[in-house]
Amino acid sequence: MTNAIFSFGDSDALGVVRAVDTASVVVGVDNLELLRKMQVNRLVVLQSSKAGQHLIGIVQRIVRDAPTAKEVEQEEETGEAQIAERNTVKVTLIGTFIERDGTKENLFRRTLESVPEIDANCFPLEGDVLTRFMRVVSHQADSAAPRLSLGTYALDHHAEAYLNANRFFQRHAAIVGSTGSGKSWTTARLVEQIAELPNGNAILFDIHGEYGTLKGDGIRHFRVAGTSDLESGKGLSDGVLYLPYWLLAYDDMVAMLVDRDDNNAPNQAMLMSRAVVAAKRKYLEEGGHKDILANFTIDSPVPYDLVAVHDEIDAKNVEMVPGARTGSEKQGDFFGKLSRLVARMENRISDRKLGFMFQAPEETGEFGWLERLAKQLMAGTRDQEDSKGGVKIIDFSEVPSDVLPLIVSRIASVMFSVSQWTRSGERHPIALLCDEAHLYIPERGTSTGILASALGTFHRIAKEGRKYGVGIVVISQRPSEVSRTVLSQCNNFVALRLTNAEDQGVVQRMLPDNLGGLAGLLPILDTGEALIVGDACLLPARIRIAEPKSKPDSGTVDFWDEWSAEDAKETIASAVQAWRKQST
Ligand SMILES: Nc1ncnc2c1ncn2[C@@H]1O[C@H](COP(=O)(O)OP(=O)(O)OP(=O)(O)O)[C@@H](O)[C@H]1O
Ligand SMILES: [Mg+2]
Repeated sequence: MTNAIFSFGDSDALGVVRAVDTASVVVGVDNLELLRKMQVNRLVVLQSSKAGQHLIGIVQRIVRDAPTAKEVEQEEETGEAQIAERNTVKVTLIGTFIERDGTKENLFRRTLESVPEIDANCFPLEGDVLTRFMRVVSHQADSAAPRLSLGTYALDHHAEAYLNANRFFQRHAAIVGSTGSGKSWTTARLVEQIAELPNGNAILFDIHGEYGTLKGDGIRHFRVAGTSDLESGKGLSDGVLYLPYWLLAYDDMVAMLVDRDDNNAPNQAMLMSRAVVAAKRKYLEEGGHKDILANFTIDSPVPYDLVAVHDEIDAKNVEMVPGARTGSEKQGDFFGKLSRLVARMENRISDRKLGFMFQAPEETGEFGWLERLAKQLMAGTRDQEDSKGGVKIIDFSEVPSDVLPLIVSRIASVMFSVSQWTRSGERHPIALLCDEAHLYIPERGTSTGILASALGTFHRIAKEGRKYGVGIVVISQRPSEVSRTVLSQCNNFVALRLTNAEDQGVVQRMLPDNLGGLAGLLPILDTGEALIVGDACLLPARIRIAEPKSKPDSGTVDFWDEWSAEDAKETIASAVQAWRKQST
C-alpha cells in the first residue's frame, strides 16, 4: 500500500509488549539508549493483531528497574547468569489507526478494535511519521466538517491542529487558564476566524474593553453607553448600546428597586407589578396593539412609562381615603409604606452611571426599537443591513460592576428568546463568547437578586441553547468559580496554564479516564499553550496557540522596563478626572 504512513521494520522497534490490560500495555525496552529518548505523554505505535491496523498509545510511565543490591549479591554468591534490567514503558492505548476502510485511507478512530498481542512490536511515533500522523488526525475534521485552526501541535510544530468547528460551538465550549495565560489572545483568534466566514455570527462580551483593537469587515463594535454618551445623541447606529429598563424582567426590576430587608418589601413588589402591568397595557392600548394585549404578561418586552409608574406609587404612598365618619379622612392602606421604594426609584432613575438603562434616548421607547436591536446583534455578516460585522463585540467597561450580571444576562436573554421564537429551520446560529464569565455566571450565587436572575438565564441557555442554535463559550481564569451547571454542559475545553488545584480539577474531570494523566501538564504549560479536550478534536492534544492577527489590548505591563524609562508621563491627573466623571 503506497499511501500507508506507517511502515516500520523490526529494527525500528523500541521494545516488545510484555503485559496487556484492557486499555494499557507494558512494553519492555532492552535498549537503554532508546529508553532514555522516551518521554511521558509522547505517542507510540503498536502492532495490532489485525492486518492493516495499528494501535496508538500514549506513554504514561517510564521505569528503569535495575537489579537490587540483594539480587546482585545473590548473583555474585551463586555465580548464576546476570539478572537483566527490567526497563519498562507503560502505555495507555488511545485509538486505532486503520490503513483502509472501504474507499477511505488512513483513518484514526478513538476506539480500540483490537489489543496488541504479547511480544508485539512497539515503535516510537516521531519525526516525519508523527507529522503525517498528526495531519491525518487533524485532517479528518477537514474531509467534510468545517475546520477551526487554533495553532500547531506541541509534539510537532509543523502539524496544524484543526478542530471540528461544528462540534466546538454546538455543545458549548470553555477557554480556561490563569491570568495572563493567553485566554484573550485565544479568543481573538476564534473571533478572527468567525469574522472571516461569509455569514459568521457571534457576540463577544468584552468586560474590560480589551478587544477594541480587533478590526475587520466581519467585526462590529458596540459600547454600552457610559456617562459621556448620555447627551451625545448617539444610538444603536453609532454603536452605542442602551438597554432600557423596560427590557428588564420583573424579577430584575424588583432586585434593582426593592430592598428585600424592608418590612414592606412584599407590598412594594406587589404594587410595582400592578403599576407596571397597567403602564404596559396603556402603552399597548394607545399604540393599537390589540393582538398583543390579549396575551401580554409583566415580563413581555413592551415599553412603558417609568415616570408614570413612579408617580402612581408615590401617590399611593401619600394617599388619604374617606374615613368612617362622613367628611373625615384616614391614611390609605399603603400610606408611608412605599417611601423606600419611591426613594430608590428616584435614585436609580437619576443615577448617571445607570443612564444606559434609565436615561436612554427616546428612540429606545419606540415599539420597533427592539427589533432593530435584535437585528443588529443577532444577524450574521451577510444578513446585516450593510453586509458587515457578524461578530459583535460589546464593550461593558463603563457598566458598574454591581449591575454587570444583570445587563450581560439581559442581552443574552434577548438573544435566546428571539432564537426560541424563530421558526425552526430559519434560525441563524449564534455563539455567545463570555469573557470573565466568573463575574456573571458564578458558582455561588444567591437564591434571589441580580445574580440569581443572571444565573437562571445562563443555565437555561447552557441546557437548551443547543436546540435553538445558541452556543456559549465560557472564558474564565477561575473555572472553579464558574457555575458547575454551565461548565458541565461544555463539551470542549481549551485549557491554558492553570496553577490552582481546584481549577485543574475542573479540567481533569473532562479528560477520559485513561488520559487523566494529561492534567499534570496544566500547571507547566507555557503562555499560549493549551490542552485541548473534547469532541471537537480526535485526540486530547497539547497545542501552541498561534498569535491572532490583531492582538487584544491586554498586554502585560513590563514593570522593570517601565521603571527604567527616562521620559516622564503625566497620567494621574487625567485618571483622577476620569474616575470622578466615571468615564475615560
Ligand atoms: N498564543 C500566544 N503566543 C504568544 N504570546 C501569547 C499568546 N497568548 C498570550 N500571549 C502573551 O500573554 C499575554 C497575556 O495574554 P492574555 O491577555 O490573552 O491573557 P488572559 O489569559 O486573557 O489573562 P486575563 O485572565 O488576565 O484576562 C499577552 O499580552 C501576550 O504577551
Ligand atoms: Mg483576558
